[in-house]
Amino acid sequence: MSVIELEGVVKRYRSGEETIEALKGVDFHADRGEMVTVIGPSGSGKSTMLNMIGLLDTPTEGTVRLDGRDVTDFTEDELTEERRSTIGFVFQAFHLLPMLTATENVELPSMWDTKHDRRDRAVDLLERVGLGDRLGHTPSQLSGGQKQRVAIARALINEPEILLADEPTGNLDQDTGRTILEELTRLKEEENIAIVAVTHDEQFVEYTDRVVRLVDGVVQS
Ligand SMILES: Nc1ncnc2c1ncn2[C@@H]1O[C@H](COP(=O)(O)OP(=O)(O)OP(=O)(O)O)[C@@H](O)[C@H]1O
Ligand SMILES: [Mg+2]
Repeated sequence: MSVIELEGVVKRYRSGEETIEALKGVDFHADRGEMVTVIGPSGSGKSTMLNMIGLLDTPTEGTVRLDGRDVTDFTEDELTEERRSTIGFVFQAFHLLPMLTATENVELPSMWDTKHDRRDRAVDLLERVGLGDRLGHTPSQLSGGQKQRVAIARALINEPEILLADEPTGNLDQDTGRTILEELTRLKEEENIAIVAVTHDEQFVEYTDRVVRLVDGVVQS
């Protein structure tokens, strides 16, 4: 069973008189242990699609299933809980808190969890992405690639089933982007997660298990 599935997903945005159909009936799925990349030009609906997969927004029409469960049946509390426990997010702009160390940034999404001490996992994840010697550094003391590694470790702290990445190499040079893609493919195997990345960067094709091309809100077959 796919961890995440979209079926006939339509998303319309209304701004004033105008209606924009950002997704026009998208079918999509991702399984554990695979990395799927959604590639498409600016405005093709990539972020909109990722927001549906990440339960950050709901479709106008169609169905989103998480582990086979229709998420339209979920309450707001259940959606919040799933976002926290099942899904990890990585963004183009890293979104690290500047006052916190690398370790504290990674631990942050687990702070609500009083049952487990997540410090050990935070340190372990940072070591696994090659930042064992940067644990106490704050974001301003890290390079772009190092910041993105911290963000990836943070996305994995709660042992998600799915890692979602919106342009994860968008702020990095090509070589650094390549090492981030290598990290992602390695972690995908180690953690047995589904990775869904959206990008316009063709470099992803080489690292990904499957490519989905999105043009003007439609998946190309
Ligand atoms: N909140 C919104 N309200 C109205 N229109 C929106 C909204 N969000 C996105 N859109 C429109 O929906 C379409 C798809 O936008 P989306 O952000 O998903 O594209 P994208 O593929 O992620 O582009 P980029 O590569 O530039 O990030 C665009 O035409 C955009 O203007
Ligand atoms: Mg986008």
